[in-house]
Amino acid sequence: LTAGPLAGKRILVTSGPTHEPIDPVRYIANRSSGAQGTAIARALAALGAEVIFVTGPASVPPPEGVRVVKVETAREMAEAVEKVLPVDAGVFAAAVADWRVASASDRKLKKTRDGMPSLAFAENPDILATVSKLEEGRPGLVVGFAAETDDVVAHATAKRARKGCDWIVANDVSPATGIMGGSENAVVLITEAGAEEWPRMAKDEVAQALALRIASALA
Ligand code: C5P
Repeated sequence: LTAGPLAGKRILVTSGPTHEPIDPVRYIANRSSGAQGTAIARALAALGAEVIFVTGPASVPPPEGVRVVKVETAREMAEAVEKVLPVDAGVFAAAVADWRVASASDRKLKKTRDGMPSLAFAENPDILATVSKLEEGRPGLVVGFAAETDDVVAHATAKRARKGCDWIVANDVSPATGIMGGSENAVVLITEAGAEEWPRMAKDEVAQALALRIASALA
């Protein structure tokens, strides 16, 4: 039996980017490394939680001691999350693609004389909003992320309301901050009580602080 303040708690963490296929060899993706989500999963497990880690194709390896569910696309991630519920808490750190290519080709697109292909997009399911608004089986604590490049607190506060989640961990991902893909993070935690600015620290430290906050919220 694992000891620790989160012993007996089942926690879902989504992490990494998603890959949205264009054809069998090409895809649309984003710059998420999965580092922050991985660190959070590790920190929650270290506090004794049973962690289910649903991850897109990340560039850092998944943590040890958690159940890893690997997915590629947003729709696969949504399905995997649904199967994992119910949980005591859900932390949605994945950078899920907002759009997918509406009809991905099952054959490699060829260069033709007719010019270049044009891609039509379709909206992906919003996993965080869907889980937050569940009438039955909503996790007791739902934590979303907001990657912003300006007006971080205002945008993240609006996002918290729109998504229906309990907390938003917001950060400034402007290229100058070096946060996306980097080892440090400077976050603002938005809760019902307002906005808390945390000092810039290593992603591992952000993860540990967040895991402790989750432990006190679930206690
Ligand atoms: O809307 P936006 O992508 O900025 O919201 C970010 C938050 O929503 C993150 O917690 C992310 O994991 C989650 N999200 C999601 N499914 C989507 C898009 C975002 O779970 N399709």
